[in-house]
Amino acid sequence: MNLPFLSREDLVIGIDIGSHAVKVCQLKRTDKAYAVVNLGSATLPEGAVDDGTLIDPDVVADKIKELFKNLKIKKKKIGFSISGYSVIVKKVNLQVMSDEELEEHIQSEAEQYIPFDIEDVYLDFQDLKTNQGDEERTDVMLVAAKKDIVDEYLEMFEGLDLKPVIVDVDGFALENTYEYNYPKDENVALVDIGAAKMNINIISEGVSVVARDIVVGSQQLTEQIEATFDISYEDAEALKLGHIPAEEKQAEIEEIFTSTCTQWVLEIKKAIDLYHANHQEAPLHRLVLSGGGSKVTGLLEFLANETELPVELFNPFSNMTVNSKKIDPDYLKSVGPEMAIATGIAIRPSVI
Ligand SMILES: Nc1ncnc2c1ncn2[C@@H]1O[C@H](COP(=O)(O)OP(=O)(O)OP(=O)(O)O)[C@@H](O)[C@H]1O
Ligand SMILES: [Mg+2]
Repeated sequence: MNLPFLSREDLVIGIDIGSHAVKVCQLKRTDKAYAVVNLGSATLPEGAVDDGTLIDPDVVADKIKELFKNLKIKKKKIGFSISGYSVIVKKVNLQVMSDEELEEHIQSEAEQYIPFDIEDVYLDFQDLKTNQGDEERTDVMLVAAKKDIVDEYLEMFEGLDLKPVIVDVDGFALENTYEYNYPKDENVALVDIGAAKMNINIISEGVSVVARDIVVGSQQLTEQIEATFDISYEDAEALKLGHIPAEEKQAEIEEIFTSTCTQWVLEIKKAIDLYHANHQEAPLHRLVLSGGGSKVTGLLEFLANETELPVELFNPFSNMTVNSKKIDPDYLKSVGPEMAIATGIAIRPSVI
């Protein structure tokens, strides 16, 4: 959804809690564009967050508190996003009906669409209004999120005296940032490669048509380096990022990179092939990669060769202004891909 600049209602602070790091983004509206006000991230200890679930909320809360303090953020209204097994996003094709009828229909029929007990989930939906002319059916996007998982987040934020007013979904937030920053008439595959998961979202003619989470990510590289050289997770991470020199380990590290990236590329190609098989009339224009894993050296070129499509790194700030005295342009450029989801949340206006 691209926001028209009609009002200046408050924006939320966007918080993206990944399994590797918490990312925070604060924007403000100016007359013509959004301006980046604040940006930061903090690495989480291994295991504090797993598959979108807060395993150790106290540790995560401490990191958020520290980030807010360092960034001098005083605002209380925040938005966060969820992902992983606890959230199901599904597009269903239904008879055209009013919002009230739709609400009723979804409440009573949801169990045929989602694999959870209806009592256990928060449900939301949006009529995508895909019906043209006098067509009788329309696509409706259904989101179901497990209450116990979402409530853990709400409780944690409450403990921090923060006010969560928006709960987003990683894939939607990514799409939101993309729509604000990039041309609208292109068919694109958005691929977010985090530490523990890869999210693929194909947007065709402005609508998300393929959305999937796959359990692969940059943490795989760290774990393989850790096992191969029998070193600590921290050292393996430092080796992976080139923070300590690879020396005689270089060849083996490259092999780990190649085999893992081949697996990622195969998954991406599978999604693209499926898309092209069903949408021959609307071929993809490009791939846009986000998440820390997208920064693996050589990945962009490899993917471009394999898919024969232009591949680029996501810049969530390309249509935004930035005070370069406050935020270092080099830092902004390097964290851009990891910040795409937090930025997508920060674009949302809070209506309460
Ligand atoms: N240059 C790089 N090369 C390889 N991996 C990198 C690079 N920079 C960052 N990463 C990796 O990216 C991951 C962090 O990315 P990101 O912040 O997007 O993940 P996350 O959102 O915390 O995880 P997830 O969404 O999977 O739960 C870490 O595994 C980190 O090691
Ligand atoms: Mg992530």
